[in-house]
Amino acid sequence: MVLSIIGMQWGDEGKGKFIDYLSQNADWVIRYAGGANAGHTIVYDNKKFAFHLLPTGILNLQTKVLLGPAMVIDPEQLVKELKILEQNNIVWKNRVFVSDRAHLVLPSYKNEDELVEKHRRNPIGTTKKGIGIAYAKRALRTGIRIADIDNLNTSELTDKKDIKFIQSYLDFLKSIRINHFVCLDNIESDELILYEGAQGTMLDMDIGTYPYVTSGPTALNGVYTCGTPFGVVNEVLGVVKIYTSRVGEGPFPTEFKEDEKTLLEFIQKEGNEVGTTTGRLRRCGYLDLPALRFSATITGLTALAITHVDVFDSLEEIRVCIGYELDGQIFNYVPTSLSEQWRVKPIYKIIHGWKTKTNKMTRWDELPQEMKVLFVLIEDYIKVPIKIVSTGADRNQTIRRDNFLETWMRD
Ligand code: GTP
Ligand code: IMP
Ligand code: MG
Repeated sequence: MVLSIIGMQWGDEGKGKFIDYLSQNADWVIRYAGGANAGHTIVYDNKKFAFHLLPTGILNLQTKVLLGPAMVIDPEQLVKELKILEQNNIVWKNRVFVSDRAHLVLPSYKNEDELVEKHRRNPIGTTKKGIGIAYAKRALRTGIRIADIDNLNTSELTDKKDIKFIQSYLDFLKSIRINHFVCLDNIESDELILYEGAQGTMLDMDIGTYPYVTSGPTALNGVYTCGTPFGVVNEVLGVVKIYTSRVGEGPFPTEFKEDEKTLLEFIQKEGNEVGTTTGRLRRCGYLDLPALRFSATITGLTALAITHVDVFDSLEEIRVCIGYELDGQIFNYVPTSLSEQWRVKPIYKIIHGWKTKTNKMTRWDELPQEMKVLFVLIEDYIKVPIKIVSTGADRNQTIRRDNFLETWMRD
């Protein structure tokens, strides 16, 4: 069975938590895109782990993880994350593999990323991890694939530090690299495969709010870069926060306005809305149903997971965007034109808050009635059922509806 987990917004929806939770019985977790720009936080056994490159399933000891062919890998960061595992007595040898088709991120790419940002008239607010440069080089066909590191054509590398860097990580990379085809060919059709997304659909190059996007595939398109010899993706689980957050620049129709500063600060504090990778405070706003409908439709979502409901536990009322207004027209999808994305005005519906603590709830039928009213509104709008709810950062603060993924969880 194949499950893919995809962010429905601009990233940081809490995918890491669900990937960790749902991979407890997975044979493989395959991360399909991005690099050290991502930041997945997992809280488990009172311990907090932040991974940028390593697939989140690594905490489940029977699970093998693969860094996929459309990823861009900074080996220095990868080694740091493996050291964190070692410090926590988590064995990773023979469990961590890097596709030989993945590309490298070199030190000079990070400098170039910073320089390009500095000279942009409208900066994107990149993470400065060299991600865009690595993907640009891949497109220019001057990138370096991990398959080719032992027979490098160094004429493409003008920076001596880059050459030294590759040499210093050569043995390490060779020890974890795997022929992508052989890896897939050895996976049995009855194994449980989880495809791990990074960032979110609205940050996708093709689908998102271009040019304010990242440069790897962040939606279902990313899954297919790995190849799917096991047939179809059986379940496409979208993850959405009960509000919206965004790091970096770009249009954000439901972003809290100046006079909503108190609410913004409350949510940033309660939701711990600080970028895992850059430490930047995340921009926040109301849940945007046109954007969610757009992401859900484009990714062929089969189920939805909602996170951070606990952050709203004390609110009297909750606003949800149910449409956009632009030049006298009302619509319920994300326009493609950047100028229209900047100009759309959200139309809100107000729902009563539940004013109940939810972080200790363990069953669907315990969830407050007002929350369920909101869930029905969301489900009616996007035509996808809500199947999991997260009431806190911990693995155990997770509620599955109707034994969702029963066979997958084998419980
Ligand atoms: P990217 O791949 O970088 O997009 O990240 P992500 O989707 O894995 O999310 P990330 O871990 O960056 O951010 C989510 C944050 O919310 C983390 O700090 C989680 O520990 C936390 N979190 C996840 N679910 C919940 C929840 O239901 N409630 C609360 N309060 N926090 C949560
Ligand atoms: P880059 O991926 O570093 O090039 O950054 C491009 C845009 O994507 C910037 O707005 C970043 O803030 C955003 N971005 C990249 N990775 C993440 C992520 O994991 N979570 C949220 N935003 C991200
Ligand atoms: Mg993150």
